[in-house]
Amino acid sequence: MKRDGSNESFWQTVEEQNFSTDFSDLEFDTIIVGAGITGVTLAKELQDRGLKCLLLDKENPGFGTTGGTTAHINNFYDASYDEIMHKFGEESARLLVKSTKDTLDYIKKNVLKYSIDCDFSTCNFFLFSAEDKQNEKLDSILAAHQQLDVKTTPSATLPFNLPFAKAIRIEGQAQFHPLKYLIRLLDAYKQAGGAILTNQSIVEYQNQENEIRLKTSDERIFTAKNIIWATHIPPGKNRFDLLVAPYRSYVLTLKLRNPPEILAQTADLYDPYHYFRYHRDGDTYYLIAGGFDHKTGDENNTEKHFNDLKELVDKHFEYDELTAQWSSQYYVSADGLPYIGRMPHEPNVYIATGYGGNGMTFGSMASLIIPDLLQGKETSLSKLLSPARVKPVASAKSVLSEGWNATQHFIMDKLSANKIKEFEDVPLQQGSVVKYQGKTLAVYRDEHGDLYCLSSICPHMGCTVSWNAAEKSWDCPCHGSRFDIEGKLLNGPAVSGLSRVDTY
Ligand code: FES
Repeated sequence: MKRDGSNESFWQTVEEQNFSTDFSDLEFDTIIVGAGITGVTLAKELQDRGLKCLLLDKENPGFGTTGGTTAHINNFYDASYDEIMHKFGEESARLLVKSTKDTLDYIKKNVLKYSIDCDFSTCNFFLFSAEDKQNEKLDSILAAHQQLDVKTTPSATLPFNLPFAKAIRIEGQAQFHPLKYLIRLLDAYKQAGGAILTNQSIVEYQNQENEIRLKTSDERIFTAKNIIWATHIPPGKNRFDLLVAPYRSYVLTLKLRNPPEILAQTADLYDPYHYFRYHRDGDTYYLIAGGFDHKTGDENNTEKHFNDLKELVDKHFEYDELTAQWSSQYYVSADGLPYIGRMPHEPNVYIATGYGGNGMTFGSMASLIIPDLLQGKETSLSKLLSPARVKPVASAKSVLSEGWNATQHFIMDKLSANKIKEFEDVPLQQGSVVKYQGKTLAVYRDEHGDLYCLSSICPHMGCTVSWNAAEKSWDCPCHGSRFDIEGKLLNGPAVSGLSRVDTY
């Protein structure tokens, strides 16, 4: 199965197939756009509740972040519970703890109900301070977990060969093979008569008088009462351009020389943090290691992030083989919690975004929220994660800084293009934003010397794209749209690709 990068993730062994179903209906209760963990889980849940859905994706299921996740299913988040209590209050934090447990039970229930063979296992997470100066933060997290009854205790050991100052053990985590889970859940949806259309983009879209009307690239026109954008930032221009920021994370998978004593997960407290988990596939054990995250489009040398991660792994682990390396995109919200629910001012439009590094949990949690809202039921959880929520004061700084970051790119990147005399100055198999004969272009030169010349201007809001050597893509630093070397759209919120430029 394909994904949105040139590197194969560990999960992409799941076979490519025709995922679309044969159906003639054009009217639906709900159209779900995006067949990742959020969209597929919602499609099955809504189907079980009697709603007629169309699941739509411009590529194959799992093409986006679900195909590049490390598939940790955790009961705590990048925004730690001490921070959540500080920003949102203890009652909200307790609600989130309970809802998270419900979400993990829900995933487990799906695995059992549909007999999904997806290497699902439960384990503990060991969070540790790598240096003494991180101990205070670790203590604060431990205290918050104990106050909120998240089963957490100090640990004198770490089931990973990593140096640490202090560690805590957090019970109740899980992990799985995300694409096996996704495809089996999708099979269950299809077997029950669910409609799915893949490899089709939306070429026209209207939302008038509470009716969604859209045309796909195969010329079909569909209508629905509601639409759910399970696409991270919804396409086009909207408030989430400022409330959510795109980041990239780097991952390696290594076949371990010896089986670990127990399956477990771990992370340190650096910012960005490094994270590790063991994965078992039959009798083979793997280490999945990740980190060295950065804001999308902000790094010139993305390949260095793989090298840094490899160096870290080489220092501490014995392995036989590096089996995969890839990077993936995730979206960080302004206040640390995701936006899941009804779009402000558009009562029949729903979104789910801003999951941070907790996509498997929050992507599944969307099915505990949006179906209730579609059936007219507001809950405490839907209020807490509402996309219309007024941001807590504490989050204002990060909202502004992400907005500033986008503005800075909008202005500065246009001035910083490399000036070249000849296209041969662009190295083989590399891309560069260049000034050539008065034009600013995104130019890639392949292994044969053939050139791909594109406009460097992102069609979303006009920022200049950056070259991502690690995934051979053009990434927009402003809101995370990504494009392949031919200009084809990989990730929104842009709704079209980079235009080709004739240089003759
Ligand atoms: Fe918004 Fe490129 S993604 S300007």
